Amino acid sequence: MKRLIFATNNRHKVEEVCAALQGSVEVVSLAEAGLEGEIPETSDTLQGNAQQKAQWVWQRIRDAHTIGGPDSYDGCFADDTGLEVDALGGAPGVYSARYAGEHCSFDDNINKLLAALQGESNRKADFRTVICLIEDSKEYYFEGRVDGQILTERHGDEGFGYDPIFMPDRFAVSFAEMPLTVKNKISHRGRAVEALKKHLL
Ligand code: IMP
Repeated sequence: MKRLIFATNNRHKVEEVCAALQGSVEVVSLAEAGLEGEIPETSDTLQGNAQQKAQWVWQRIRDAHTIGGPDSYDGCFADDTGLEVDALGGAPGVYSARYAGEHCSFDDNINKLLAALQGESNRKADFRTVICLIEDSKEYYFEGRVDGQILTERHGDEGFGYDPIFMPDRFAVSFAEMPLTVKNKISHRGRAVEALKKHLL
């Protein structure tokens, strides 16, 4: 089974991706690989950010003997996600993490988005994820997308980020009201991970 480092410090993402890849790939978190530090994320595209994060880890897989050297891992991957809101011309998009400012919380972002959409009847939005996988210095990209609506208030406690205010099409509940197994089947990240899985098998 391949061993891949997942370039994220977000424990929710690790949980989702590990569940989706269970049995087919061994996913090693940054903490488990002994990698610390702020991963750069300065591109203005999802693909660029996913690439930047994956390259940050790939360089360390090659160079840092402290984590076991190149033979210990088959590669690494990173994801970048954006929430694209129709009525806001696709914002916050690639800036979704810092929508309410540097070092803001999930709650700050939700509050800002709900305020921006107050009184707006067009609630259409989508989540898009791009995954960059690096194996043998080669880069591969996988995408996933889900369409839905931004709710007018929070619903549910599961998940993370914008989950409490995003209701995917053909569902009557938010992502934060779904078990992880259901979210993974239909979500942006779940779909991108499915494409990654097909490539790896
Ligand atoms: P990033 O991929 O970590 O840069 O995520 C961008 C922003 O979207 C962050 O604020 C995340 O919390 C949020 N986000 C990413 N994935 C999800 C998701 O699956 N549900 C809800 N919010 C998400």
